[in-house]
Amino acid sequence: MKEKLEQIKQEAIRKIKEADVPEKLNDVRVEYLGKKGALTAVLKSMKDVAPEDRPKVGQMVNDVKSEVEGILEDALKTMERKVRELQMKAEVIDVTLPAKKNNVGHRHPNQIALEEVERIFVGMGYEVVEGPEIEKDYYNFEALNIPADHPAKDEQDTFYISGDILLRTQTSPVQARVMEKGKLPIRMISPGRVFRSDEVDATHSPSFHQIEGLVVDKHITFADLKGTLAEFAKELFGEDTKVKFRPHHFPFTEPSAEVDVSCFKCKGAGCRFCKGSGWIEILGCGMVHPHVFEMCGIDPKEYTGFAFGVGLERIALLKYEIDDMRLLYENDTRFLKQF
Ligand code: DAH
Repeated sequence: MKEKLEQIKQEAIRKIKEADVPEKLNDVRVEYLGKKGALTAVLKSMKDVAPEDRPKVGQMVNDVKSEVEGILEDALKTMERKVRELQMKAEVIDVTLPAKKNNVGHRHPNQIALEEVERIFVGMGYEVVEGPEIEKDYYNFEALNIPADHPAKDEQDTFYISGDILLRTQTSPVQARVMEKGKLPIRMISPGRVFRSDEVDATHSPSFHQIEGLVVDKHITFADLKGTLAEFAKELFGEDTKVKFRPHHFPFTEPSAEVDVSCFKCKGAGCRFCKGSGWIEILGCGMVHPHVFEMCGIDPKEYTGFAFGVGLERIALLKYEIDDMRLLYENDTRFLKQF
């Protein structure tokens, strides 16, 4: 029995020495110490041992068991230490290397300009409202007094999706959507993306942004329109900015105007920026057309209002003196970082 135990022990020790991964050590544990292991089997066969020898043999088996257990434990610890050492070597950090540079994102000039415009109008008590980019022909044209045969429909080359569904060519449809709800008075701006099938060049893009404005209340006059937009221009381009209202035509406003601001670069003397005229056009505006009011369920005898539409890119280009609109769409961080 003693020899047999010695033999089992030596065998177990040899296998422990041969093991190169923790899994193999565990195999050895199962093979010799487990429920069905070789040493457990010896304990189970005690019934064949003479009763007087049992305590001695039992003691021997237990000694071998704990010896093997000890060796196994040591082997496992050594193995784990080795694995850790290898890992530490592989993951060594060279603290003298320069740190990785994090590229921090940057607000887009369009976004900066938009926040500026919103700040100005919110400061005057306007609400910021959003409308859908995919729009019905009705809201984009019809409700704005642009019937099917109106030449303005051709002026704004429209991307049609199907039948009467299109990509809005202007933010003006939000006017109709807000008025239709019937909650008066109204004082809102609505910024957003618009689409026209234009070729890309320094001043055009098939997708750009506008900011619509609408005020509806009793006793709103053209003087309110002028005062509001003059104040807006001053806040945006500087206190000494002059404004000029030029008569114009838009189907949804009557009378209509285009607004020019005095060139903030040359203060009106004439330069490359204002093409020598001293003035720069910034927006379209007018008094809401009675027909538009009627279509939106508002009584034009009781209410009046004014509206305006600003090109956001135009504001960003002017404010940051960028001479090519394409730069705004390329998202080159070297460009964006400058603002
Ligand atoms: N929607 C017009 C455009 O895209 C801009 C505009 C002009 C909006 C006059 C207005 C307005 O609200 O009153 O050209």
